[in-house]
Amino acid sequence: MSAPLQPQAGSVELDDVQGLVRFGYKHLTQACFLLLRVKDCDAARAWLAAAPVTSAVAIDPPPRTALQVAFTSEGLRALGVAADIVEGFSAEFVAGMSGDASRARRLGDVADSDPDRWEWGAARRVPHVLVMLYAAPGLLDEWRGSVLAQCQAGFEQQAALATSDMDGVEPFGFVDGISQPQLDWNRQRAARDEDQLDYTNLACLGEFLLGYPNEYGGYTDRPLLDPKSDAGAMLPRAEDVPDKADLGRNGSYLVMRQLRQDVRGFWQFLDRQAGGDAALRERWAAEMVGRTLSGDPLVSRSGKSAPSDAAASGPDLNDFTYQADPYGFFCPLGAHVRRANPRNADLPPGRPGIVSRLVRALGFDAGALDNDLVASTRFHRLLRRGREYGANVSIAQAVAGAAAGAESGLHFICLGANIARQFEFVQGAWMMGTKFNGLKSEGDPLLGHRQAGPDGTATDVFSIPRPDGPDKQLCGLPRFVTVRGGAYFFLPGIRALRYLVIAR
Ligand code: HEM
Repeated sequence: MSAPLQPQAGSVELDDVQGLVRFGYKHLTQACFLLLRVKDCDAARAWLAAAPVTSAVAIDPPPRTALQVAFTSEGLRALGVAADIVEGFSAEFVAGMSGDASRARRLGDVADSDPDRWEWGAARRVPHVLVMLYAAPGLLDEWRGSVLAQCQAGFEQQAALATSDMDGVEPFGFVDGISQPQLDWNRQRAARDEDQLDYTNLACLGEFLLGYPNEYGGYTDRPLLDPKSDAGAMLPRAEDVPDKADLGRNGSYLVMRQLRQDVRGFWQFLDRQAGGDAALRERWAAEMVGRTLSGDPLVSRSGKSAPSDAAASGPDLNDFTYQADPYGFFCPLGAHVRRANPRNADLPPGRPGIVSRLVRALGFDAGALDNDLVASTRFHRLLRRGREYGANVSIAQAVAGAAAGAESGLHFICLGANIARQFEFVQGAWMMGTKFNGLKSEGDPLLGHRQAGPDGTATDVFSIPRPDGPDKQLCGLPRFVTVRGGAYFFLPGIRALRYLVIAR
């Protein structure tokens, strides 16, 4: 077995990383996402060559506006980037989110969420460039106008996706954005650390930034160029292949999906099931999410108690695992956050003690079979950067059937160095998987499409295990979330961004 790669402390070029990788810009409560298509390649390149992109360097006071730029593979081609460079990116980025029926099926983009029905992101509606604008209150409108005026010679605007400031609460009413992986910015964690058998929130930088070692101790594939094609020496050399220029370094992939939420449908369904009992409908909603409305986890740090035990609350709402709740009596096995991050380590879960550890390490634990799919969370983490949009409807209004106004939802955004292993795996295997964690007949209670499986199996059930009797089952769950658009983008390092639009 090879030795873990030793950490290389302090060598991240923060001034080359786009700020979104390091900051969620929560203080910039206004945001707008411009989806642009190239109409004049030279003019588009000229704007991008000088676009005021905000870096990941921390400044005090923090910026009042921030601008980020990302490209689809179609966009790179439209900007005249050479085909062999585009092909050097990952296959799923090159193929794009839509346009492949098998990918759509795996991601659950079926029926009402079929890409054919999307407002953007499919067929001729794939954007080329995403410009993300974040601004302090009151600054967005004028700034957006000036950015659009500057780039109109090069681009046509396909859409300007507005966002709403819901004060950290997503449209169903739950506090969001609590759990995030912690990036090892100081590069102190040894990659491929075989001694790291327990769940940890600290993630190798290479899971989120290209050009750095990932959790396997390897470097994720990205375009590595002959330095001759970088005459101006704009690009850094690859850490792992020093005779190549690294176009990926300090860049990340950005997954964006516009998810419409049926807030009325969600609360009215639960209200009907609970026979109008407000406390019960809220409890089941919390069990579907895996956290209470205010964000408390349903397991305590020890996992042995319900949230009424104050141990689960407190300043760190993220310091827990599900290890001591193997049957899901506190947080159901299929709850959204448990699917999204089972908080499992490389070693399958089990009882403490050296014998149990040995049995599990050698793979003799028959009960671990069901857990196989949920092991090794560290390879499937997502850095979420989404923003809410649309109308803010309270639970009371939703239950009372307030007249449907503007739609509400989430511009789901996540970053990762490997779209297939991170977003596509979490979405396809964990969210849409009907056999997740030994369950049957159920997809994610928030995101599931509810269509029957190929063998006719239902997927519209949500099981709530009970210690003192059979599972409580909520059946006939309607679809609560519909995909309205989406695309895979590359969020380049800032030098790579300039290289892509200056070098020919
Ligand atoms: C409209 C759709 C969605 C809603 C309403 C929603 C809601 C939530 C809420 C309320 C939380 C708990 C707060 C937190 O831990 O930050 C959460 C956590 C999370 N969600 Fe979602 N989510 C949605 C879509 C997605 C999608 C599409 C994915 C990935 C494919 C995803 C992945 C995650 C992850 C990774 C976590 C953190 C889990 C953890 O580390 O404990 N979510 N979501």
